[in-house]
Amino acid sequence: MSQDDLKRMAAEAALEYVKSGIVGVGTGSTVNHFIDLLAGIKHKIDGAVSSSEVSSERMKSHGIPVLDLNASGELDLYVDGADESNSHLQLIKGGGGALTREKIVAGASRKFVCIADGSKLVDLLGEFPLPVEVIPMARSHVARQLVKLGGTPVWREDFVTDNGNVILDVHNLRIMEPAKLEQKINNIAGAVSVRR
Ligand code: A5P
Repeated sequence: MSQDDLKRMAAEAALEYVKSGIVGVGTGSTVNHFIDLLAGIKHKIDGAVSSSEVSSERMKSHGIPVLDLNASGELDLYVDGADESNSHLQLIKGGGGALTREKIVAGASRKFVCIADGSKLVDLLGEFPLPVEVIPMARSHVARQLVKLGGTPVWREDFVTDNGNVILDVHNLRIMEPAKLEQKINNIAGAVSVRR
């Protein structure tokens, strides 16, 4: 079975959580399967709040109404993928660069269903470079602070987030305490968000 088949199976499993109302939808190749499947039951829902322009476009192409989070109120359900997960379901996200909006929509949702195939499960987070969204003028400053935290930040060149910011992918981290590292990075002036 290919990894794409596994991604589709993970997406299928999340469909049973979709009952009615407005669904929060993440970003990525696994979520793309979810969106395609959601199209088959779109009559059950009022629409979706999207975490990225690319997911919005895909949903619109299926005729799924895309709604503004400011008008939707709290959501029952958010469905999204992950780049890495440990057994505590602490995640690295942002491989697609949509981490900030993903974090916002997840935060506005009562339940987060993470759809990921087995290849994403690790003992220790950090093999996948940790994406950090950064205000462009702060790129070098934030990079220096990330080096102090033990990482090797690499600017994702030729990439701009939906919010007009840049991404630093932080290599060589062995993340023993994900919550503490998240807090430290979020406290760096100019770092918009890191998704744990
Ligand atoms: C997008 O910014 C990410 O957080 C994705 O959720 C993550 O990269 C998973 O992507 P795949 O489903 O493509 O592996």
